[in-house]
Amino acid sequence: MAQFQSLPGFREFYPDALARRNHIFRQWRRAAHAYGFSEYDAPILEPLDLYKAKSGDEIETQLFSFTDKGGREVALRPEMTPTVCRLVGEKANALKRPIKWFSIGEFYRYERMQKGRGRSFFQLNADIFGEPGIEAETELIALLIQCLRGFGLGAEDFYVRLSDRNLWFYYLETLGLDEARVRGILSAVDRYEKLGDDAFKDYVTEFGPLDAELKAKVIAFMGVKTMSALEATLGALVSDKLQARLGDWRRLLANLAAMGFGDCVEVDLGVVRGLAYYTGFVFEAFDRKGDLRALAGGGRYDTLIGKLGYNEMPAVGFGMGDMTFALLLEQRGLMPAFGPTTDVYVVIGGEAERTAAFLDIAGLRAAGYRVDYSLKEVAFGKQFKAAAESGAKLALIYGGDELAKGVVKFRDLSDRSEHEIPRASVVEAVRDYFTTGGTA
Ligand code: HAM
Repeated sequence: MAQFQSLPGFREFYPDALARRNHIFRQWRRAAHAYGFSEYDAPILEPLDLYKAKSGDEIETQLFSFTDKGGREVALRPEMTPTVCRLVGEKANALKRPIKWFSIGEFYRYERMQKGRGRSFFQLNADIFGEPGIEAETELIALLIQCLRGFGLGAEDFYVRLSDRNLWFYYLETLGLDEARVRGILSAVDRYEKLGDDAFKDYVTEFGPLDAELKAKVIAFMGVKTMSALEATLGALVSDKLQARLGDWRRLLANLAAMGFGDCVEVDLGVVRGLAYYTGFVFEAFDRKGDLRALAGGGRYDTLIGKLGYNEMPAVGFGMGDMTFALLLEQRGLMPAFGPTTDVYVVIGGEAERTAAFLDIAGLRAAGYRVDYSLKEVAFGKQFKAAAESGAKLALIYGGDELAKGVVKFRDLSDRSEHEIPRASVVEAVRDYFTTGGTA
């Protein structure tokens, strides 16, 4: 029995699983390119300091970290955001703005495993740098939605919960809270869905008993789920910042509606995001039926590049994971079945015919056809069986009698019809067959 199992939470991708993963990546890439994003990549192993205090307490406790042979404290990347900030920060002056970048890569977090959560997972990351206004949020939320829609998912399958850490700040400031207390409340809000009232425990430990009226207001604000409820709660409050911010909200929602995405976005002040660096609008995408963890999450993080020691630059982005995503596609029957990977199967009479067959196999492969044959010399019957199992539409038969006449047999495996073609025109015959949809 297996002695060397893979580590818990790390996935192996057998070919059928990899075909499904590649399908997801292909569609994500297509969507990102359609929105004008350029692809980048970066190291998997990073200095530990990049995440300390930048990503937030939760991620810090989940790091796979160690000391390398040169005595450096390093960590497998748990997320892309600090890394992409370094890339942008390093070349800030040379990069044309807005910078619209995306990447697809693997990430590592020592998490408790559950449905849709592993210790290694892939994320699409898409980020815009250099744009302070809601135009950046518009593009990113639209791209996030398109990444889901590209697979045939619609507003009945998923929704994006839109919230705003600024609005929380402005609101709690009008209730008399200082910055430290606001942060304490926000970290309780982040955990409230999971923990209920226990989410406020840390706040109480740090700042003393929570005033009942304040708590009621916080809970009511978390429950705000429409623009009109938001306006009703905040409309009467005299704060220029607050009123200007409501204007941003209206414009962002109007932009998304104009793009045809209005039905996928919902106001939801219950989302504040746990990562330490978010500074404004935040959003998370969820399955409508609600039994899966988040499909994607992101938001604005205008101060992170500055915290890494570069000139500050506004930034917004999101990460979308592959695990909950694949589960959702499968649940909805939207994951295609990935079929045969062979176009042409070459049946070879014997040793004497191999040289001719190999030359033509190489020619067909160079022309882009997926060609397979039996590595070992076996009887015709076995080769035909293998040809059928390969899913190939076409078999080319290299027998001694045919080759002596300068021809090969061309068998259409869908109707078993067969005819001879000159060996010299094998590539043309195969091309004709596939371009005419198999009726040559
Ligand atoms: P995040 O919310 O930590 O954000 O992760 C984004 C998505 O990655 C999640 O919604 C989920 O789909 C997937 N994900 C996260 N952890 C796991 C896990 N252990 N197993 C499976 N999937 C997981 C970020 O990572 C931010 N850096 C996103 C971002 C980019 N913000 C701005 N730009």
